[in-house]
Amino acid sequence: MESKASAPGKVILFGEHFVVYGVKAILCSIDKRITVTAEKIKENKILIKSNIGNLELEPNKDISKIKSPLKPFYYLANKIIQNKNIGIKIKVESEIPLGVGLGSSSACCVAGAAAISRLFSDTPKEEILKLAIEAEKTIFQNTSGADCTICTFGGIMQYDKENGFSKIKFEPKFHLVIANSNIKHSTELIVKDVKSFKEKNEDEFSNLCKNEGKLVEDVLELLKKNNIKGLGEKINENQRYLETIGISNEKIRKMIQIGKESSFGAKITGAGGGGCVFALTDDTNLNETINQFRNKNYECFSVKIDLEGLNTF
Ligand code: MEV
Repeated sequence: MESKASAPGKVILFGEHFVVYGVKAILCSIDKRITVTAEKIKENKILIKSNIGNLELEPNKDISKIKSPLKPFYYLANKIIQNKNIGIKIKVESEIPLGVGLGSSSACCVAGAAAISRLFSDTPKEEILKLAIEAEKTIFQNTSGADCTICTFGGIMQYDKENGFSKIKFEPKFHLVIANSNIKHSTELIVKDVKSFKEKNEDEFSNLCKNEGKLVEDVLELLKKNNIKGLGEKINENQRYLETIGISNEKIRKMIQIGKESSFGAKITGAGGGGCVFALTDDTNLNETINQFRNKNYECFSVKIDLEGLNTF
């Protein structure tokens, strides 16, 4: 018997990095997914196949010694088959570009936790989220939990570490155009860099957190009114805060400039240091924004907001 699950990627609209320090963020899931298929096997082994490579190991290995990016799947399978004399075979299929801030690793953790745990019991989404965050911590210890939360529950949400998430109920009239710098990043390393910026600039960082918190509250009001121009201005303001904490670079700045020429606003999404930027558009400037990026040879696509989150089959 097979168990299948798929989870969406994500865009952080506002608040990445600051969310690690308790500030509220606003995120949405996108219509690009990771699908994981899990199957019990007789042999007491964990086998993982994906388009970024394979991993085949006996259970109960020391997780800290495993170097593969597929480690979260191993962690999940190993945890779930404890005291059961069987193995697990896992297949991973992805539509999400890897390591560029669009939630590929959190979608892997969520879809993996769902597919594997549902081989044994009908696990509720809240439990799957807990498992997914544990698995994510094997590659990125200091996660805020925001990414796995949006990949599990989908839609648009506000999230903070203390209160968790609440969905934002509204009909988005905007489109997001994503452009990929094709510079892969390690979220863990960039989060560490931000931590050292904070330690060297405590007062400035604390002011930035206050400003970001205020910005997010303003955004919640603008979302209610579907005020797309106002939202664009907030996106540009948030990008300035991200520049200040040092997660941007020359290529990203060029891309933000291109995005801003025809859209309402553009910023990094996710950890930064490379990865993707997004531009906010509506029907009037969607094609023009895509063309601007493509004319300058950037990989670029528009995404719709996914309203479903985790799906199981
Ligand atoms: C990464 O997608 C988002 C960060 O804020 C880290 C986190 O929230 O765990 C940079």
